[in-house]
Amino acid sequence: MFNKETYVNRRAQLQQQIGSGIILLPGNVESPINYLDNYYPFRQDSSFLYYIGIDQPHLAAIIDVDAGTTTLFGDDFSIDYIVWMGPQPTIAEIASKSGITDTKSYNAIIKTLQIAQSQNRHIHYLPPYRGENNIKLSEWLGIPVNEINNHASIELIKAVIAQRSIKTPEEIIEIEKAVNISGKMHLAAMRHARPGIKEAELRGIVEGVSMSNEGYPAYSVILTINGQTLHNHYYGNTLQSGQLVLGDFGSESPSRYAGDITRTFPVDKTFISQQKDIYNIVLKTEITSIEASRAGVRYLDVHLQAAKTIAEGLKDLGLMKGNVDDAVSEGAHALFFPHGLGHMMGLDVHDMEDLGENYIGYDDTVQRSTQFGLKSLRLAKKLHPGFVLTVEPGIYFIPELIDLWQKDNKYKDFINYDKLSAYRTFGGIRIEDNILITENGSKILGNPIPKTIEEVEAIRQSL
Ligand code: GLY
Ligand code: MN
Repeated sequence: MFNKETYVNRRAQLQQQIGSGIILLPGNVESPINYLDNYYPFRQDSSFLYYIGIDQPHLAAIIDVDAGTTTLFGDDFSIDYIVWMGPQPTIAEIASKSGITDTKSYNAIIKTLQIAQSQNRHIHYLPPYRGENNIKLSEWLGIPVNEINNHASIELIKAVIAQRSIKTPEEIIEIEKAVNISGKMHLAAMRHARPGIKEAELRGIVEGVSMSNEGYPAYSVILTINGQTLHNHYYGNTLQSGQLVLGDFGSESPSRYAGDITRTFPVDKTFISQQKDIYNIVLKTEITSIEASRAGVRYLDVHLQAAKTIAEGLKDLGLMKGNVDDAVSEGAHALFFPHGLGHMMGLDVHDMEDLGENYIGYDDTVQRSTQFGLKSLRLAKKLHPGFVLTVEPGIYFIPELIDLWQKDNKYKDFINYDKLSAYRTFGGIRIEDNILITENGSKILGNPIPKTIEEVEAIRQSL
């Protein structure tokens, strides 16, 4: 948690943006796995963390914009709780860490909200993404559960996105901590991979690195020999000589900022030449995309440039053909690169996507495409200094997609289907770093993680 001034200042800035009414921020509650006392690891709501900073369940906050006050609603711990869970600070002590002096019991929030409603005050809240908070908001506000999202405050969504999008120097320090733990996870995967080891063993090792550094995986680990499946969460395969391992995983820092890194490396100690060819196209695309990411540039344009670099590289290898600009504008490259170049990152790995992907990634000047591949671009709008985002191009050989398109002879002027049979079991390659948009360009966050073929082979050979 930062110093209390950070939270006081963040709330003051939000109040200024919203102008009047009250802002309701429900924190998250414990989420049971299979019975009440056996729950998933607790993860606080990120907007609650941003404005209040307290990383524990069963709290809610109300910012009264007109009065300029914040109240924290929560219950002091009973002796039963203390017997099972150990000594706990009081709610007043917890609140003071966030610069909040007014505390009330958790259920007192109902009365406070009823009074506000009786005075016709505007109650701003964010769209909930968890069933528990949906039900709570429904009960507290008297709005049917299935209408809660329709009544979320667009004004608050936009104000929160504007504020949380610009990372401050103290946030960048936290994000770099997360990226550095993520880098250690990747080094561990590169050090332990070998023919005969199971994906599950590697997953256990990298998750252990995150946790032993007081972090927690920022999202479900992707660690697979089937990198062509973009979000592969299966860990049952055994690594075999000749295969590639795609690892897309990252850690939260202890203060819950995320890292999101991808590396791809051979199960053997060196890449074979077919792997090197594809790897170097992805690497060139990643490096040139980072160079092109600067304030004032639309990330949509960086994405399209990345798609062209990929199409050019594949054309050089004889897998694509024709005019590269036309191939990309028609969407033919998406056979190999079917996802977006990146997304915002911060307290969430896909930062603030709970508030609406189109609010965070798009605006009045740029609309989301419906074209296969491009429709999956999560961030398209102009970049600003202070944005933290991922750059994660990839090339994949997805047999099911190749077969489908080949059957229909789709984009036959741009794709050499006859050459693709040699790549059916190739898998996929993705390379991903996390960058900060600065006044003059961009900066890769965290310590360098092996990325060139030489760097990756050097670490694979140092075992
Ligand atoms: N790291 C997974 C993703 O960005 O979707
Ligand atoms: Mn990512």
